[in-house]
Amino acid sequence: MAEAAVRLRNVQLTLGTGRSAVHVLKGIDLDVARGESVGIVGPSGSGKSTLLMVLAGLERADDGLVEIAGQALGPMSEDQLAAFRGRHVGIVFQSFHLIPNMTALENVAVPLELAGVPDAFARAERELAAVGLGQRVTHYPGELSGGEQQRVALARALAPEPDILIADEPTGNLDGETGGQVADLLFSEQARRGMTLILVTHDKTLAARCGREVAVRSGVIERGSAPAAAAFAEAAQ
Ligand SMILES: Nc1ncnc2c1ncn2[C@@H]1O[C@H](COP(=O)(O)OP(=O)(O)OP(=O)(O)O)[C@@H](O)[C@H]1O
Ligand SMILES: [Mg+2]
Repeated sequence: MAEAAVRLRNVQLTLGTGRSAVHVLKGIDLDVARGESVGIVGPSGSGKSTLLMVLAGLERADDGLVEIAGQALGPMSEDQLAAFRGRHVGIVFQSFHLIPNMTALENVAVPLELAGVPDAFARAERELAAVGLGQRVTHYPGELSGGEQQRVALARALAPEPDILIADEPTGNLDGETGGQVADLLFSEQARRGMTLILVTHDKTLAARCGREVAVRSGVIERGSAPAAAAFAEAAQ
């Protein structure tokens, strides 16, 4: 397999405490090669969003190995983890998560500026143009359609040039046609930048557009935990 983008081994995670504690991830094994696109599917409550949070370094596994872009996240301090995320991982959420009192341009540029990128506003303008929003840079999120807001969120996630783009139901709040356009953008930007794309979706059409489907059920992966070539190599051993 080419250099791994993701290597998870026996990842365990319990969320909540006391009576509300839930053993959400119950031994996840997952391999994703660089440049792959992976669609994670599974029933509501099966642990898909939680798995993405672990991949993004936003939740720490209780046990097991989480290796992203060749680096183990477990031993990192909170500061190291935040810096790692900033360099390697972009995230897009179903509900966009834009800052309402910032323009489209500021939503993309301010995180870059905070990360010390010198030409933050110029780069943000280029990223907004790349997602087709060159004419909307001074709009506030409330002045944009859902599809446009998600494209701003995509520009924000792509601007730091991450190795891995993680998207949790990126088309879940959009109508079919707008969702299709956002999906077109996701895949074209992935191809253009050679990124790894890992998305969660309930949309069978979107999942089928990914290079591989991974099915999660009750906190374990029941299908698709390794790229086809790796599965073949393992079977041949
Ligand atoms: N902070 C928390 N404390 C306790 N339980 C939690 C917490 N967060 C999530 N859970 C539980 O973990 C399980 C998995 O949640 P998760 O959000 O990962 O599911 P999902 O597969 O993304 O579902 P959906 O398709 O509905 O988005 C759920 O049963 C949920 O109630
Ligand atoms: Mg979810």
